[in-house]
Amino acid sequence: MPAIVLVGAQWGDEGKGKITDMLAEGVDMIVRYQGGANAGHTVVVDGEEYILHLLPSGVLYPDKLCAIGDGVVIDPKTLIEEIENIKKRGLPLENLRISGNAHVVMPYHKSLDALEEGLKGKHKIGTTGRGIGPCYVDKMARLGIRVRDIFDYEEFHGRLEHTLKYKNLILREIFKHDGYDAHTILEEYLEYGKYLKPFVSDTSYIIHQALRDEKFVLFEGAQGTLLDVSHGTYPYVTSSHPVAAGACVGAGIGPTKIDRVLGITKAYTTRVGEGPFPTELDGEIGEHLRAKGSEFGATTGRPRRTGWLDALLLRYSVRINGMNSLAMTKLDVLDEQKTIKVCVAYKVGDETITEFTTDFRKLVEAVPVYEELPGWQTSTSHVKDYRDLPQEAKNYIKYVESQIKAPISIISVGPGRSQTVILRKFV
Ligand code: GDP
Ligand code: IMO
Ligand code: MG
Repeated sequence: MPAIVLVGAQWGDEGKGKITDMLAEGVDMIVRYQGGANAGHTVVVDGEEYILHLLPSGVLYPDKLCAIGDGVVIDPKTLIEEIENIKKRGLPLENLRISGNAHVVMPYHKSLDALEEGLKGKHKIGTTGRGIGPCYVDKMARLGIRVRDIFDYEEFHGRLEHTLKYKNLILREIFKHDGYDAHTILEEYLEYGKYLKPFVSDTSYIIHQALRDEKFVLFEGAQGTLLDVSHGTYPYVTSSHPVAAGACVGAGIGPTKIDRVLGITKAYTTRVGEGPFPTELDGEIGEHLRAKGSEFGATTGRPRRTGWLDALLLRYSVRINGMNSLAMTKLDVLDEQKTIKVCVAYKVGDETITEFTTDFRKLVEAVPVYEELPGWQTSTSHVKDYRDLPQEAKNYIKYVESQIKAPISIISVGPGRSQTVILRKFV
């Protein structure tokens, strides 16, 4: 049985939650490997919407094992709220496992996230404000607090006092903030620790056992390839590794264990927050895509920037992740378009670029060169079989495949589980 990594191919919000949930039925275990509550993964079941920030999008199947791996940064308050919400909807969550090595988002991380954004002024990233960057900074600086630390008063107290020496200095001296008192944090977080302790396990070992027993394990990426701190549009990125390779480090498995990588892309492009976006649309079409696609952040509610599909960006994403195939979501959002554009090159000054670049200066100057294809101007949201798609939609899919040099194996035509068309085997 395979281990599959499901990864966002663009700037996040590609529909990873919907595709994970759809695949989860045939999977034994679903694992989140990076990111934190900056993620917002939407799953729609029988018309009811669930937005998951930290829980893997497999939790709606009570019999599936779900894990939050070492590479995730956990805001315990958000996680507990999420667990309670899911329980209220009648799902027991007995099969949830959380890594004791995952780092904990602390109140000062959230304050620093906001204060640093303020200080950056016009260079701000447009973060989700969830404390993600500062928490990963502490992890790397070896100042972090891990989930297992918040079970134990002595351990937690010692670590927190040590970390707060640095944090309060920065908060008070640079930002004129009041700083944080260790005891107030301890009181709050020890309670979270008590709640979370029963879920905590050696998740890497559990995944290892599942793979050894030939179980089907799905690794659910958060964010997207172009938000990766190494391979994305730096500095306008998140602070983790959403790319497929991130699953190895974030879940604690070796690269030889991964069988396949499934990329998720929208039929067009969106981005939330700041940073270059060569195919961005400002006018009526961009507005239509936002309205029809309900393109508002699942975590912050911010309107998402919208644009045409960028074949350079996707081809890059196929390469960086070693994608075997892709799922293309939100095809239905293009239903009304008379013609549909795909970016096939960038003009940067006198130069024409046909391969994606993460060179920030080039990306901000890039003027897209488009290929224009006829639209289908008919509803696709009811389609369940590839043969029933309009010919123009099939042509669009084939054209994108030829541009990105990878097959598209799944098409999504609506948020519901059943609004999915399987084109070919992807496992
Ligand atoms: P994620 O972060 O990658 O899981 O994506 P989000 O959940 O943030 O955003 C995707 C949005 O599109 C959600 O509101 C989904 O319910 C919705 N969605 C997913 N697939 C489709 C689709 O094929 N068509 C339409 N119209 N909506 C979809
Ligand atoms: P999912 O998993 C879209 C963006 C933020 C900002 C940048 C850095 O739902 O696809 P951060 O708070 O991570 O420090 O912000 O990354 N961002 C996302 N954009 N989808 C997400 O997650 C995102 N998570 C972070 O908007 O530009
Ligand atoms: Mg999202």
